[in-house]
Amino acid sequence: MEKELKALKTLADCQAFHAKYLGKSGEITKQLQGLKDIEPSKRATRGAELNILRRETEEKLFKIQHDIEAAEANAKLMNDPLIDVTNPLTYTARPSGPGVTPGGLHPITQVIREVEEIFAGMGFIIEDGPEIATEYECFDALNCPQEHPARDMQDTFWLSDGRCLRTQTSAWQNHMMKKYGPEFRAICPGRVFRNEALDARHENTFFQCEGMMIGKDISIANLIYFMKAALTAVFKKDINIRLRPGYFPFVEPGFELDASCVFCKSGEHCPVCKSSGWVEFCGCGMIHPNVLREGGIDPTKYQGFAFGFGITRLAMLKYDLNDCRWFNSGNLEFLQGGTK
Ligand code: DAH
Repeated sequence: MEKELKALKTLADCQAFHAKYLGKSGEITKQLQGLKDIEPSKRATRGAELNILRRETEEKLFKIQHDIEAAEANAKLMNDPLIDVTNPLTYTARPSGPGVTPGGLHPITQVIREVEEIFAGMGFIIEDGPEIATEYECFDALNCPQEHPARDMQDTFWLSDGRCLRTQTSAWQNHMMKKYGPEFRAICPGRVFRNEALDARHENTFFQCEGMMIGKDISIANLIYFMKAALTAVFKKDINIRLRPGYFPFVEPGFELDASCVFCKSGEHCPVCKSSGWVEFCGCGMIHPNVLREGGIDPTKYQGFAFGFGITRLAMLKYDLNDCRWFNSGNLEFLQGGTK
């Protein structure tokens, strides 16, 4: 029987094999039917043997059939001159037909891709750090040792091996410095986690984008230039920015960066910026010497800026949303742009 299984080449062969052994009058079926005629003391053992044989034969046949079907489908695709198998759209299952809306990219994915494109255009490397970080990467390397009070602001989920779900994309700073040395510019967008009570502005899972530029003679003027250019490209509108003093352990001096409000219309009250004309956008500053040193960079020779903004927040501003919980809701009406 093994030999016969190996010789099966077409679906018709498989059908013939099935009829011969497993079908209504197949050999295994017949033997199972004949169990009633054999000596009762041997019946149970023989029955068990036959059932195992039947199941194993079915499984082997099923696998062979499946492989033949897959090979036939592939051959059909490869030989069809109208199908380009190198085009991802060809092999991505997409619903189509009247009344069916094709799937699309999640709004967060769209914003991440747009941000990546903008920063790549300004010479930034795009990095992708892991969502699980060591305590060192997430805190200690960022000038935030165990007893530092700033740790309280970022409660997270801990793994039993001492690692954690990163609370900030800043957790990848140390790695980037060690990877690229003292002169580079890079961004690292990605998912971050906090142990938070949920409301319209707080989620336990959201997205940030970290950015760093290190070199000789880098100053806040460079940061202002890049942030203004990036925001102007995202909103397709001239954006002004301003800095206010802000505290983050990994930068000195540190700032809160505000962007001019894109929703304000002259003479009307603006609910987004409460008519102040500015919306809080991100934290940033000049990288603290301890952080540079920890990344193997000599702070007496090199300096740099860092920033970290919420991709989720940016998406809220871009799509004019007032509740961040929509993004993880899985609500199709929202994802298709139908609700706010
Ligand atoms: N990691 C900070 C946070 O999640 C944001 C941040 C602030 C990042 C200042 C930076 C920075 O790189 O310089 O709140």
